[in-house]
Amino acid sequence: MSDISALVADTRATLVRIAADFSPAVFASSLAAEDMVLTDMILRAGLPIKIFSLETGRLHPETLDVLAQVKAVYGYSIELYKPIDELVNTYVAANGINAFYNSVEMRRECCRIRKVEPLGRALAGNKAWVTGQRRAQSTTRAQLDVQEDDPAHGMTKFNPLADWSEDDVWNYIRANDVPYNALHDQGFPSIGCAPCTRAVEPGEDIRAGRWWWENPDSKECGLHMVDGKLIRIKSVAA
Ligand code: ADX
Ligand code: SF4
Repeated sequence: MSDISALVADTRATLVRIAADFSPAVFASSLAAEDMVLTDMILRAGLPIKIFSLETGRLHPETLDVLAQVKAVYGYSIELYKPIDELVNTYVAANGINAFYNSVEMRRECCRIRKVEPLGRALAGNKAWVTGQRRAQSTTRAQLDVQEDDPAHGMTKFNPLADWSEDDVWNYIRANDVPYNALHDQGFPSIGCAPCTRAVEPGEDIRAGRWWWENPDSKECGLHMVDGKLIRIKSVAA
């Protein structure tokens, strides 16, 4: 088991460094457990890192409820970025509301419209962005660094929880009374859009319920890709 107090101290130090040296910086929160750890650290320390969420229009009510919990516990309103209506309407009219089940291409196009385009707007004008990704989450994240260059968005990207295990996340949440998505207690270790997320059985991979009909190697929504590929670029910047 990892030493949680050392991990917490390191992660806090990373966030303080981001706020001091990479301003303006923003944090992309999916409102799932990892992101609640970072939300708690940022808001308790009063760090000037704006928190936003991509409201795809297909999130579970339990996920949207986290917005109210954050407001009640921390007095903070997470900023929401929504897809462009016209793009959504055109996709739905041409392909149907649930066309993402038909092919990886259709699924990526839906993610592009509902997540990737709004992400671009949310990140514009910033020097760095922060995510809640962890190395242990999937094969696609095994090489993740705490600090990376993100050429797709022309800024530095931080994954302050890269070294954290799932147990570390839950130990922090319980020890600090951090609010969290009620779906985590109903078999959802990883949460995305409602039609693309299902509960997992005990012992199943934590991302088995995400885009469960696809091959594990394609299970990224495009938020963390450069030119359609997952590229890890170690940042040498201070
Ligand atoms: S995903 O790429 O497969 O959807 P995952 O759900 O594991 O990603 O989340 C990884 C990180 O991507 C989150 O910690 C968060 O930083 C960012 N992220 C994912 N979904 C959203 C969202 N809807 N809004 C904002 N950030 C998100
Ligand atoms: Fe569309 Fe599913 Fe991607 Fe959400 S996760 S944007 S519903 S394909």
